[in-house]
Amino acid sequence: MQNKINEIKQYILGKIKEIKDLKEWQALRVEMFGKSGKFTELFKLMRDVPAEEKGKIGQILNNAKQEIEALITDNERKMSEEELNKEINSAERIDITLPTEKCTGSLHPRTIIQREIEEVFTSMGFVVEDGNEVETEYNNFTAVNVPENHPARDMQDTFWLDNGEVLKTHTSAAQNRILKKYTPPIRAIFPGRCFRNEDVDASHENTFFQLEGVIVDKDVSVGNLIYFMKEMLSKIFNKPVEVRLRPGFFPFTEPSFEMDVRCPFCDGKGCPTCKNGGWIELCPCGMIHPQVLRNGGIDPEVYSGCAFGLGLDRMTMLSTNLNDIRELNSGNLKLLKQFKIK
Ligand code: DAH
Repeated sequence: MQNKINEIKQYILGKIKEIKDLKEWQALRVEMFGKSGKFTELFKLMRDVPAEEKGKIGQILNNAKQEIEALITDNERKMSEEELNKEINSAERIDITLPTEKCTGSLHPRTIIQREIEEVFTSMGFVVEDGNEVETEYNNFTAVNVPENHPARDMQDTFWLDNGEVLKTHTSAAQNRILKKYTPPIRAIFPGRCFRNEDVDASHENTFFQLEGVIVDKDVSVGNLIYFMKEMLSKIFNKPVEVRLRPGFFPFTEPSFEMDVRCPFCDGKGCPTCKNGGWIELCPCGMIHPQVLRNGGIDPEVYSGCAFGLGLDRMTMLSTNLNDIRELNSGNLKLLKQFKIK
């Protein structure tokens, strides 16, 4: 019996060296004193100890139990204090003593629409990815098939940094990183802030938001593109929508299109929002160029893909009836406070 007690003590001493957190200390307590714990079993064996030794062995056993219980309790306390301190000092700290009146803000309308769109796409199996605001020249241009000196670079007036990097001019800049990160099938959307050296007016901003999407799989076709966009728009506008494609040009897609949606406000009859044209230009898109796939490490002989670059500001303006894009970056609280989550 005494040997068994010593064995357990040795075992515990070895174990203690490996324990890293509170959970493991708690597990050790169960292992020792739980229903079929090692000590519990030893106490059961006491009934087989000869009467004349019971007192002595019982005392040894009790002492060992107390010693080990104290050790576990001490360490549990220490660990839980440490974990609590870590939590208190972490960024997740919330000051629950702050008065609530000061926290009654509202979400920016663009955030509201972005979250709605993200929700629709995630329900269709898309992951939501992030992009950088400062990008390498390679990611912003070369990787998406816009080589140096190509006239297509002039399509986007770029803010260049002294170190040769750029403020990303479009969310397409994240395509290469995402193609490399995942193996097909890929369904990803990536919203983000973009910058262009533009003169600002009611429909142009130097700082604006896009929401890009890519789908890469075997046999992806324009049909997939149309399907996903229609699904998303129908959910956002709360009714079935009709879209049409017109030819477009982008170096990263072949063929490229401009996607229009039949005006959801007048059902195509003509109204101020669609400038009486019945259609609203919404989203450039296309089949991902084989070179862009190749740059992302994907074999275009096996896989194909489509991509789109939705203007988030435009979507926000449509869903809020705002007609000046500058309002969105104005920080005008009177305006922004009118928008609450639906
Ligand atoms: N990156 C383009 C722009 O900002 C928009 C775009 C066009 C994105 C076609 C795409 C696409 O993914 O397929 O002008």
